[in-house]
Amino acid sequence: MPGRYEEAFQKLTDKFRRSAALAAEEGIIPYKSESGRWIASPYDGNSWWTGGFWPALMWQLYAATREESFLVEARRVEKLLTDEFRVFERLNHDVGFMYLLSCGADEKLTGDAQARTDTLHAASLLMGRFNPAGYIRAWNHPSQAGFAIIDCMMNLSLLWWATRKTGDPRFAHVAAIHADTTLREFLRPDGSVSHIIEFDPASGKRVREHPGQGYGLGTQWSRGQAWGLYGFTLAYLNAGEEKYLDAAEKIAANFIAHIRPDGLTDCDFCQPKGEERIDNIAGAIAACGLMELKKITGKEIYAESVKKLVDGLLDRCCDWTADRCGLLTHCTASYHDDGAGRHTNITYGDYFLTEALAKLNGTDPMLWR
Ligand code: GLY
Repeated sequence: MPGRYEEAFQKLTDKFRRSAALAAEEGIIPYKSESGRWIASPYDGNSWWTGGFWPALMWQLYAATREESFLVEARRVEKLLTDEFRVFERLNHDVGFMYLLSCGADEKLTGDAQARTDTLHAASLLMGRFNPAGYIRAWNHPSQAGFAIIDCMMNLSLLWWATRKTGDPRFAHVAAIHADTTLREFLRPDGSVSHIIEFDPASGKRVREHPGQGYGLGTQWSRGQAWGLYGFTLAYLNAGEEKYLDAAEKIAANFIAHIRPDGLTDCDFCQPKGEERIDNIAGAIAACGLMELKKITGKEIYAESVKKLVDGLLDRCCDWTADRCGLLTHCTASYHDDGAGRHTNITYGDYFLTEALAKLNGTDPMLWR
């Protein structure tokens, strides 16, 4: 008899098979669902940073089922994303999320030569954002030349991937320099991490911390904590340096201490008591990182925490209605709501819940490396 996680994966496969056909009909990259229908990103068209998660979800389902329709839908969106290379100026450090999870996944699962070339192209774009003063620049606005953000820890995998594929160590050097800067400047003594640190782009010296998408300056935006947790875990898997594993475990300990009794995740671990603001994407990302930490260290606390997080999401926050697009509810783009949504469905929440279930069921193709 299939276990609960296998049953959940089977159900979500059926649901996304149906809604993939709707996305294809509309010709969009699903960013979130509204009233049960997919909508595209309201920002930056197909250059918006989340575009890789939908094809990644399709590749997860393809890896588990080998059904051709998932490959076809992943490649439909891969083409839309590679068209964005020519737009160029709207792309930023999130080319890691966008292209490792689309073209990189294609190359990994099918060996497609063009997909490999496109992933290398994206890695070169990420390299081009490196400031030799010590960090990878996050965004493009002229006032943000010195901004680096914790989320970038996830994008670094693209650089380590490029070194493995080409034998050229430049990519890995840059990834390590940025990871070391993040370790030094973002990780706080209590195991939490900052979201945004601004550096002087000429000297590389720290200028200040900015509040970002959490409750306020110096607080703990939970998705940022999850990016740090999974990002440093991936840095360890890529580079084999114990200092990255230590960082990941410190961040994990702080994250685990803040999982709510119902298994859901507050949007900010420092938000005012009594204010109900949840971001389940953070919990789903953390579950994926914690699964990897369990594999690396063998520690049971990580497996127990994954179960608490995934059970919380499956018990309380999944919309299983067959003809409605979108699965995970109570996703929040940003604490103070930038218009992208609060307590809603957002596609990268669906992606990370799918990855977490695939890891639990043993079908995860590990798209991050
Ligand atoms: N990387 C941006 C976010 O997590 O919202």
